[in-house]
Amino acid sequence: MKKQKILLVGGSGYIGTHIYLALIEKGYDPVIFDNFYNSSEKKVKNLEKFINSDVNCFIGDILSASDIEKVFEDNNFSGVIHLAALKSVPDSNKDYINYYKTNILGLINLIHVMNKYNTKRLIFSSSATVYGENAISPVNESMKTFSNNTYGLTKIIGEDILENTCKVDKEWSAISLRYFNPAGSREYDLLREEPKKSAGNLFPIIENCLLDKDKKFNIFGNDYKTPDGTPMRDFIHIDDLANSHVLALMKLETDTNYYNAINIGSGKPRTVLEIVKKFEEITNKKLNIVFNERRENDIGSSYADISLAKKELGFEPAHDLDSICRSSIKV
Ligand SMILES: NC(=O)c1ccc[n+]([C@@H]2O[C@H](COP(=O)([O-])OP(=O)(O)OC[C@H]3O[C@@H](n4cnc5c(N)ncnc54)[C@H](O)[C@@H]3O)[C@@H](O)[C@H]2O)c1
Repeated sequence: MKKQKILLVGGSGYIGTHIYLALIEKGYDPVIFDNFYNSSEKKVKNLEKFINSDVNCFIGDILSASDIEKVFEDNNFSGVIHLAALKSVPDSNKDYINYYKTNILGLINLIHVMNKYNTKRLIFSSSATVYGENAISPVNESMKTFSNNTYGLTKIIGEDILENTCKVDKEWSAISLRYFNPAGSREYDLLREEPKKSAGNLFPIIENCLLDKDKKFNIFGNDYKTPDGTPMRDFIHIDDLANSHVLALMKLETDTNYYNAINIGSGKPRTVLEIVKKFEEITNKKLNIVFNERRENDIGSSYADISLAKKELGFEPAHDLDSICRSSIKV
C-alpha cells in the first residue's frame, strides 16, 4: 500500500523533527516545509543522519501562498500538521504585527492552498497559553480561552478559524492540540532543542546554567500556593507530544468533519525547584539558584487535565520526569 504523505509545516523545528520521527515509525511519508527562520539546514541534515535516509524538505515561507502551492503541486497530501509560528510571549507584544502575519495570515494562506488542492485535514499546534493566567489548574478544554499577550491571542484566533472552517465546510476536519511544556529529545546531539531565537523555555535555560557554574539560575516567585512555593508546570516528553500528532491524524482518518481542541500534557504537575533537583541529581552538579520576585502575569500553577486526549485519541504519556530530564542534557 502507498504510504500517506503528510505535510509538516514548520517541520524542521524542535517539535517538527520529533513528529517527523513519529510519522515514519508509523509508516507515513512526511514532507517538511520551512523557511529556517528558527531552524536550519543543519537540523535537516541531523535528522537525515539520525534516520540514515534522505528527508524531503521544501524551503518556503507560509506568508507566500505561491511557496505553499509549489509543495502541493508536487505532492498529494492526505493531511497537514501546522507548526510554523513565532512563539515568544514577550516578543509577541513588541513585535505584534509580525506575530499577526506569521501566526494568523500564515494559517489563512495554508487553508486557502489546502482548499485549492482539496486536502482538508489539519492538526494545529496550539498552546496552553490559551487558558490565560487566571485559569484554575488542572485546566480542561471546556474552560473559556483568554489571553493578555499577542502570542496567546494568535493561537486563540487560529483555533477559532479552524473551528469555523470545520463548521462552514463539512469536508474539513481539524484538531487543535494545546501543548503544555514539551521538553527532552530523542537524541541529544542531533535533535535537541536548539532555537536561533530564545523563547525562554525552562529546560534550555537550566542546561546553560549547568554548563556554566557562574551563571545564575533565576526562579521567579517562591511564595506561590504550590508544594515548595515555586511555579508549577506540566512538562511532557517530546516523543509523547510527537506521538499525539499521529493519534490525532488517525482520528481524522476515521471521523469526518471533526473538530476539537485537545490538551496535550503529562497531566502531572512539577515545580521548578523539583525539576532543578532532578537535574542536580542526574548531573551531580549544583545550580546557582537566585530567588526573585514573581514576574508580572506569571501563573503559580498551570497543568493539564488530559482526560479528553485519553478519551478522544487514546493518548497515554509513556515517559516520566527522569526520562525527560536525562534526554535534555548530555549526561
Ligand atoms: N515549544 C514549546 O514550548 C511550545 C509550546 C506550545 C506551543 N508550541 C507551538 O508549537 C509549534 C512548534 O514549536 P517549536 O517549539 O517546534 O518551535 P520552532 O521554532 O522550533 O519550530 C517552528 C518552525 O517554524 C518555522 N517557521 C517560522 N516562521 C515560518 C514561516 N513564515 N514560514 C515557514 N516556516 C516558518 C521555523 O523556522 C521553525 O523551524 C509552534 O506553533 C509553537 O507556537 C510550542
